Amino acid sequence: MKVLATRRYPGPAFAELEDVEVGAVSGLTEVRPEIEALVVANEPVPVELLPGLRLVANFGVGYDRLGIETLRERGVAVTNTPGVLNAATADLTFALILAAQRRVVEGDRRVRAGEWTGSWADGFLAEELTGSTLGIVGLGRIGQAVARRARGFELRVLYTQRRRSDTELGEYRDLDELLGEADIVTIHAPLTPETRGLVAARGLALLKDGGVLVSTARGEIVDEPALVAELVSGRIRAGLDVFSREPHVPEELLGLPNVVLTPHLGSGTRQTREAMTRIVVDNILAFERGEPLVTPVQLR
Ligand code: 8YV
Repeated sequence: MKVLATRRYPGPAFAELEDVEVGAVSGLTEVRPEIEALVVANEPVPVELLPGLRLVANFGVGYDRLGIETLRERGVAVTNTPGVLNAATADLTFALILAAQRRVVEGDRRVRAGEWTGSWADGFLAEELTGSTLGIVGLGRIGQAVARRARGFELRVLYTQRRRSDTELGEYRDLDELLGEADIVTIHAPLTPETRGLVAARGLALLKDGGVLVSTARGEIVDEPALVAELVSGRIRAGLDVFSREPHVPEELLGLPNVVLTPHLGSGTRQTREAMTRIVVDNILAFERGEPLVTPVQLR
């Protein structure tokens, strides 16, 4: 089966694909009827140029940019890589929570700028993390991994999601209650028509003064201009791994001390990325053999 992959994906499993061409889909200019499977990292699929396409194996759990409606209409199967990236994403979430709450990056900058002159960092106090309240928006696989890690920091955990679940991991709140009650809010929902703009200006205004917002999910879930305005005002802090128009980061954020910025690193460990490639390849091999897909996306 002829596979087009938008890059050489990390790890040894990639070499198991026998007939694979590496090249950007954005660079396709002519119709390529021989391509039957496509490997993308949540990139738009140019279906009109790929009339023979039967499978899209997405490297990543979120598939919001693929153009899923068209793929469904065309009968193209889609797979993703759930599960293997929960730990890495939850770990990065805590890196951002700690960095934003304990002013780690600001401190680093001060040291490098030669501004650490006394034995105490005068006027540079942070709020304690241990014992504070964490609000999780979306208690799916990654949200649950975050909730389990929260126990180690003795955090009180609140969660919100579409369907209230019977869980020991946290107390259910509706979104507005959670935004007003949590010291730190972290987003772990998928990007869907329902979650786009879920946390808008009104919701951001509910955050406590000095509260922290973290997102390792999708930038579009939070109203980005409203978030920028809150951060520019200095009222809240944030740790952001995702943005609405990646790799663009709003200019206003770049000089702010109260926001920590990372370039969509959630799943970015060697082990996790290699495990993601393993799943991508296993799906393609299963499809080739006519076996059930390992991690199909249910196209409704
Ligand atoms: C990927 C992600 O880096 O899995 C996801 O949804 O956002 C990340 O793991 C990204 O999707 C590119 O594949």
